Amino acid sequence: MTEPEAAPPAEQQPYSRSPTGSPPAAEGTTFQQTQADIVAHQAETTIEAGSDSDDPGYETDAESRASTSISSSVRDYAFEHGRRYHKFREGTYQFPNDESEQEREDMKHAMVVNLCGGKLHYAPLDNPQKIIDVGTGTGIWAIDVGDEYPSAEVLGIDLSPIQPVWVPPNVKFMVDDAESPWLHPADTFDFVHIRHMNSSVKNWPKLLTEAYNHTKPGGWIEMQELLFTLNCDDGTMKEDYPTARFLQLIKEGLAVFGVDLLGVTRNAQLLHDAGFVNVETKVFKIPLGVWPKNRTMKLIGLYLRSVIYDGLQGIALGPLTRGLKWTPEDVELFLVDVRKSLMDASTHSYLPFHVVYGQKPLNT
Ligand SMILES: C[S@@+](CC[C@H](N)C(=O)[O-])C[C@H]1O[C@@H](n2cnc3c(N)ncnc32)[C@H](O)[C@@H]1O
Repeated sequence: MTEPEAAPPAEQQPYSRSPTGSPPAAEGTTFQQTQADIVAHQAETTIEAGSDSDDPGYETDAESRASTSISSSVRDYAFEHGRRYHKFREGTYQFPNDESEQEREDMKHAMVVNLCGGKLHYAPLDNPQKIIDVGTGTGIWAIDVGDEYPSAEVLGIDLSPIQPVWVPPNVKFMVDDAESPWLHPADTFDFVHIRHMNSSVKNWPKLLTEAYNHTKPGGWIEMQELLFTLNCDDGTMKEDYPTARFLQLIKEGLAVFGVDLLGVTRNAQLLHDAGFVNVETKVFKIPLGVWPKNRTMKLIGLYLRSVIYDGLQGIALGPLTRGLKWTPEDVELFLVDVRKSLMDASTHSYLPFHVVYGQKPLNT
């Protein structure tokens, strides 16, 4: 499929929340649909590269954003190396929860929603009434899905109380540990949503058994996860590419805490093992950087680059200092080359994004 000639020029636009959770409405519906089709096709096959000088000139300001919230309560948060972390079940999750981290999480949401053509899920839901978002983070997905299904009650749970106060009336948040026994009645939820949790969860079979027991017969579960291994289809990524080394070290650091960062490829099997049926998998390519030719793909690549670039310190500190016992200074030194490599648009790398969903049998 090729890009239509008549497409009007698009500005790079940040994602803004909309009632339907759809990507930026910068252009006409027909064009958006066509863009969505092109993106869906390229994401599942090969991403077409643009010219190397095609950088839209995005500038980041990672240092100035790495500040903590002055309004936060010390009772609710822990601090380390200048970053803020969750206090409830302290040390369970290795990444910060401060404002710069929250911005990054919202940007990741925009990236995924753009990639998925505005879809918040792929599971074929039919009038869901109870939805749970496990590890809801800033609650951005829960809020969007609450808007999309106004008759559903949406519950977002997280270790961190970082969700907004003003939310749709059908959306609630709770501080809770998803790896502890779930206290809801059995067969409660029509939909269990889990996204970007592979860097957190230690015992997936246990968590998915809880999810299964608390899903209604006929209800659905969906897992959406990035596989943090950089790939390249055209030989432009060198073997010693610093961003690839960075991801390898994060994996090693998280392994110290019992987290398997690359366990994503087993998600379909995990759902089968927990008892779910009709399990489907979709794998998309998310470009890292502005190298793709297609403008929506370029925007998605810009989001991923920003998500990693702006988050380098926050991503690295926990796994490398707590896990691999580096000093914060070692980390900063290492990140210099990683930053440079991230801005190099001649390397056409991408991360696979795995979407896996399954259904609890009607007769259990
Ligand atoms: C990478 S963020 C993803 C946020 C959200 N799912 C999204 O896609 O926007 C991971 C979140 O999971 C939360 N988390 C990690 N371990 C958890 C646990 N055991 N129980 C509840 N939340 C957890 C973290 O506090 C963090 O907010």
